[in-house]
Amino acid sequence: MTDFAPLLVADRGQPARPIHLVDKQSFNDWLKQRPPEDRALLEAQRFDGKTGFAFALLPRGGDFEVVSAVKDARELSPWCLAKLAESLPEGAYKLAQGEPGKAALGWLLGQHRFDEYRSNIDEPERGPRLLVTADAAMIDAVVRLAGATALVRDLVNTPAANLGPAELEKAVRDLASETGAKIGVTSGTALADGYPLIAAVGAAAPEERAPRLIELEWGKPDDPRVAVVGKGVCFDSGGLDLKSASGMRLMKKDMGGAAHAIALARLVIGRRLRVRLHLLIPAVENAVSGSAYRPGDIIKSRKGLFVEIDNTDAEGRLILADALARAAESEPGLIVDFATLTGAARVALGPDLPAFFANDDALAAEASQSAGEVGDPLWRMPLWEAYDEMLKSDIADVANAANGPMAGCITAALFLKRFVPDGVSWAHVDTYAWRDASRPGRPKGGDALGLRAIFELLKNRYLPD
Ligand code: BES
Ligand code: ZN
Ligand code: ZN
Repeated sequence: MTDFAPLLVADRGQPARPIHLVDKQSFNDWLKQRPPEDRALLEAQRFDGKTGFAFALLPRGGDFEVVSAVKDARELSPWCLAKLAESLPEGAYKLAQGEPGKAALGWLLGQHRFDEYRSNIDEPERGPRLLVTADAAMIDAVVRLAGATALVRDLVNTPAANLGPAELEKAVRDLASETGAKIGVTSGTALADGYPLIAAVGAAAPEERAPRLIELEWGKPDDPRVAVVGKGVCFDSGGLDLKSASGMRLMKKDMGGAAHAIALARLVIGRRLRVRLHLLIPAVENAVSGSAYRPGDIIKSRKGLFVEIDNTDAEGRLILADALARAAESEPGLIVDFATLTGAARVALGPDLPAFFANDDALAAEASQSAGEVGDPLWRMPLWEAYDEMLKSDIADVANAANGPMAGCITAALFLKRFVPDGVSWAHVDTYAWRDASRPGRPKGGDALGLRAIFELLKNRYLPD
């Protein structure tokens, strides 16, 4: 994985090419201060300071300076330097004015590639682009954020054949051995006894891709308990209710929630937040075989609720239900789950906006505030109790899918809510974990959506003094 640490360095007076950031407002005044040859050059290149992410190189004494147009030069977005980091030649750079702040993240991620599966990389290998900053105190935190984001992207991009439940387990094991956290894995008959829904969803997968619940614990016993849960469906074929070809095409990403949860745990531990962290990853493959669970099956969940399987493609909520029940047993002060749970969330909000649910208005307000602070949006959706009846089963306590096509992400969230005790503060993030079109610093493919927002929320609550 990309080593981000060398790419963001403290200012010790080392030589660095200046980057001038201009916007619609400041461009003309800035241009007036420049030598006439710069003006001629910029005019010839039709650089007008208005077009987002446009940049130009200005010759300066055998080397060059950079000018780049951003939306607001006084309030930098995380991505406004990403295009530069992707495009500029090797070397050290420094903002001509001010410090990069949030934009350092895009500088780092603009240099991350997932090229594990490329034998002939067409671009020649380019050396690192370093960003020099006088704000040395923020370097570690930004490097960790970039690392966590890249981890989500890499895990999601890895094909299902190379990333099954065992590899998700390895990702958690790696985190445990890096940090001294404790890991526990439940599988086989213990899984069938203790977590019947996880075992049922994973039943069709071959032995080497057997279902499991992966748990990690970290922190001091007296600190407030926070549980983080992530949907780890390493491939979602739909099961016997098989998906169509187009519906299945991206389903290697159905462990995106798990990737977010693991990355969040890594951030929490890296920042040493004052929490007792409980990470739970139910990891399965929703496959097809003679041992697959079936529509019409009724399974007694860990919590004791009988669930009738209406649709084997609504598998995420099943594995999360048992994991949420387990999380609640330790009486946490907060549970957060991440899941690529429904297509309906995407129909409602599109690819960029994770659907956010909370049973606690104060928590929802904090989440929306944090999301705004870090430019990682979340959109609150209602846990509209009246729709609960859409999950009615004729013969069991609840069905795993609604009987109609409406409000799909809400009924999915309402299903989960049944497994979270009243009084436990809970947030649910229904995220796409994917980007269909490349943007600067955010290539097409797996992506973290909602991760930084929730980490900011946790930081605001639990940062050590
Ligand atoms: N993994 C899918 C949800 C999904 C699909 C997320 C496409 C992002 C993009 C989930 O397991 C699923 O199949 N959900 C069904 C539920 C339905 C059967 C009630 C859905 O959303 O169609
Ligand atoms: Zn599914
Ligand atoms: Zn799924």
